[in-house]
Amino acid sequence: METHDPERVRGRIAAFPRERTWLLPALEAVQASEGWLSLESLEAVGEHLRVPKSEVYGVATHYPEFRLARPGAHLIRVCTGVSCRLTGSLECLGRLQARFGIEAGQTTADGQVTLEEADCFFVCSAAPLVEVDGACHGRVNPAEAEHVPVWYRFSRAPHAAGVARPSAPPELPGESARARLAHLVEAARRRARERPPIRLLVQAGSCGAAVGAEEVVKALRTLAAMRGLEAEVLEGACNGICYGQVAVEVRREGWPRLTVTNVTKDRVPDLLHALFSTEAPVSGFDGVVWADASWRGFPPAREHPFLRGQHRVLRAQRLAHLAVPVPGDARDRPGQRELRGELLRSEQVVQGRG
Ligand code: FES
Repeated sequence: METHDPERVRGRIAAFPRERTWLLPALEAVQASEGWLSLESLEAVGEHLRVPKSEVYGVATHYPEFRLARPGAHLIRVCTGVSCRLTGSLECLGRLQARFGIEAGQTTADGQVTLEEADCFFVCSAAPLVEVDGACHGRVNPAEAEHVPVWYRFSRAPHAAGVARPSAPPELPGESARARLAHLVEAARRRARERPPIRLLVQAGSCGAAVGAEEVVKALRTLAAMRGLEAEVLEGACNGICYGQVAVEVRREGWPRLTVTNVTKDRVPDLLHALFSTEAPVSGFDGVVWADASWRGFPPAREHPFLRGQHRVLRAQRLAHLAVPVPGDARDRPGQRELRGELLRSEQVVQGRG
């Protein structure tokens, strides 16, 4: 475990505006850098943000996510939220306690491992979850707890990926919102023209990442190159199909948009063969086609067992809000009208209600 370094702490917080409102992000940044919050770190944060020590200490001790004691070289956190409990996380925890000879909340005598219970990681669709050195592992079988050391990372930056950093908005040419929007639209069209004909978008949000999205991306890139497929493999964010991660969205000119679910790295060769070496129906994979009729064995959303009863109320409401201009309202300005039009043109709301 890295030791507390006052210079590094000051460097981490220097970019934050000196206002109380940045207290939580600054504490998160320091914990991401140091692995824990020492009293010296808390004082440095308070001094920089001009917040009293008592208030900094109060906030740091209020949130269980903040750690006020130095953890071991490797930090293992087992989610004991409701979904994980129901799917076996307590058994995982018990196995880990036995494996390392410590209780949750303790560190091994050699300072190598700290074991903690954690509240919900908000990756419930991949329950049960065990986080090792900042990386979540989902759908963990209790027997796998014995092999947790293979998940250790040797240069740990816990939670660093999730830390919000103050950043400036990108510079765009043009005086008006309309000009800047036109610039963005043209840049997007240019990127679309230059793309390879096949796009494979791997959903690598929190749920996908917890069940192997990174490995699926690597396997797709390697095997697509070996097969000579003109394909672009991209890591995408959550598409809302958390239950079916890892999900791969397939786009190709002339094909309907397709989402294949529950893809693992071991099944990537079969998937690429089934999709691109024949035109026959694809068997052995689940998924959904975003069209009116089924396609190569994949059902449309309105017939899909999980999706057919869904209606994207939130998205529909947001569009309705954008679509109804209020006289004199900012939404009625020219740039906003164009944005609204673009969104409405590109929208594909799933309507089937069971
Ligand atoms: S209950 Fe474990 S991630 Fe939500």
